Amino acid sequence: MKLTINGAEMELDDAYADGLLVWAIRDGLGMTGTRFGCGAGICGSCTVHVDGVATRSCVTPVAAVADAEITTLEGLAAEDGTLHPVQQAFLDGQVPQCAWCMSGQMMQAAAFLEQNNNPTKEEIVDAMKNNYCRCGCYHRIKSAVAVAAETIQGGTA
Ligand code: FES
Ligand code: FES
Repeated sequence: MKLTINGAEMELDDAYADGLLVWAIRDGLGMTGTRFGCGAGICGSCTVHVDGVATRSCVTPVAAVADAEITTLEGLAAEDGTLHPVQQAFLDGQVPQCAWCMSGQMMQAAAFLEQNNNPTKEEIVDAMKNNYCRCGCYHRIKSAVAVAAETIQGGTA
């Protein structure tokens, strides 16, 4: 079967067609930017975009997204390689510790800022509250999301 990921139509081995999106992406297509954590839709580490909406790939059947536009961390940067403002802010802010949660954090933040690029601190906290970081990088995550919002508002991205 085919899946549309990061703007490209990709051929997925039928062995993954009845499974979950996270394994289709990671094992079927070899794109390991999407992380697997709890496997229960709780931690957010597996977050990707499905038609622009932050979606937990560990509880999303491949069949449910067969006709959707999927974006993974690998597709977040611009085609010329320019990092997404969220990626740049996480890099500049030295946000990650172990980094296991960070793909999901950035995908969640990018989808949120697409809907609201001028968020209050409270809105950032609310948007990011269900993405867990076991290293406790929450302060840096929130700061980086605010910086990314400023970048987007400034039209420099
Ligand atoms: S691995 Fe999907 S929400 Fe935790
Ligand atoms: S940086 Fe380690 S879990 Fe978030």
